[in-house]
Amino acid sequence: MMKLWDAKFKKKLDKEVEEFTSSLTMDKQLAKYDVLGSIAHTRMLAKCKIIKEKEAKKIVFALKEIGRELEKGKFLFKDDEDVHTAVERSLTEKIGTLGEKLHTARSRNDQIALDERLYVKDKIKEIISQITKFQKIILQVAKREQNVIMPGYTHLQHSQPVLFSHWLLAYLEMLERDKSRFNDSYTRVDVCPLGAGAGFGTSLPIDRKFTAKILGFSKVAGNSLDAVSDRDFLIELSSASAILMMHLSRLSEEIVLWNSSEFGFLEIDESFATGSSLMPNKKNPDIPELIRGKTAKVYGELFTILSLMKNLPLAYNRDMQEDKEGFFEMMKIVLSSLNIYTKFLPKIKLNKAKMGEMAEKGETTATDLVEYLVTKKVPFREAHRIVGKILKHLAASGKRLKEVSLSELKNFSDKFAKDVLKRIKVEFSVKSKNSFGGTSPKQVQKRIRDWEKRLA
Ligand code: ARG
Repeated sequence: MMKLWDAKFKKKLDKEVEEFTSSLTMDKQLAKYDVLGSIAHTRMLAKCKIIKEKEAKKIVFALKEIGRELEKGKFLFKDDEDVHTAVERSLTEKIGTLGEKLHTARSRNDQIALDERLYVKDKIKEIISQITKFQKIILQVAKREQNVIMPGYTHLQHSQPVLFSHWLLAYLEMLERDKSRFNDSYTRVDVCPLGAGAGFGTSLPIDRKFTAKILGFSKVAGNSLDAVSDRDFLIELSSASAILMMHLSRLSEEIVLWNSSEFGFLEIDESFATGSSLMPNKKNPDIPELIRGKTAKVYGELFTILSLMKNLPLAYNRDMQEDKEGFFEMMKIVLSSLNIYTKFLPKIKLNKAKMGEMAEKGETTATDLVEYLVTKKVPFREAHRIVGKILKHLAASGKRLKEVSLSELKNFSDKFAKDVLKRIKVEFSVKSKNSFGGTSPKQVQKRIRDWEKRLA
């Protein structure tokens, strides 16, 4: 196996140890960033006259060629210990011993920290743009189904009627918080560790600000020990990802429930469902189920990286190599889940009749009666008691609230007048929830307009 460090060793490394310690299968995904970092580093070495301008030109030329090979999938990874070794090995194959100058004033310790940061910066941008895409889809569906009424739940019990669009827009709000978490974490990953060397700086006259600038970082890491051993940015990304997945998982749980025969609120498009190998009658909601499942893996990654770091003395430790596997997997999960939802959600068909029918069940407008009495100056607690008694009376006579007559109501309070009867209807109930952020069509419409402006 190609190594960069075995000159002082008398013995050859055991084959199985080679395999056990190699990280190439994982960190080859960082190759593009390793090349970018190497190009910036070479330019800096020339600018600081540590190598000659002519030498730098040759190195950069060959590194760019490697970059193109990687892009086209033509780069040949050999028996290299890691991605850093692979790039340097290929460079010396191309330009001979001049390639050996690349690693001046650099260590794989600051190199891997750099590669990971560059990778994470790109992923954060990708995730944010995917979230925005999904938010726009949510908005589109909310607008399309603006006036569909369904039961609103607390404790999974029918509580008060709510607009489906209002419910859906709740997820849009969650996603906005997710976006701000990713955005916020970006400021802390946007710090360049390159030039920290193995963790202690260098005696050579390097210019770290120059490297940071050409790599697009807004800051340079201020402590070389911290620069090579900080993985907070992975923890933050995992944590933001875990919260995002928790939101997607909650949405998934509702879709799975609502797709069941018991709820019957919606139907999943056939092109987004699967069947059973045994039961020909089945159409399963696999997408939301898998997203619920994959959420667990993302939580696992957050815990992996937290545990990985908690006992590490300063500065670099090889343990940190284990940050990659779950991390790459996590990014795949987050991006593919967002992507699949943007396709899946607009295809869901609502069973509006069933939703409307269920919106009434459980006497969901009882609170409207209470608020009616409050507007007639009845103290809230007394109004609550009065309506409680009405419900008890109706239950005893096997009647629904929507069947109650004005004279019956008057038996419980003389404050009831003719206009109370329309207050019992779910449409009226929803319309009347016109407090800021409430479920009235007016409020929802306003929120949709706000979001349209914000997401445009
Ligand atoms: N493969 C290592 C990692 O992922 C890169 C840094 C290795 N440094 C070292 N001194 N062995 O963390």
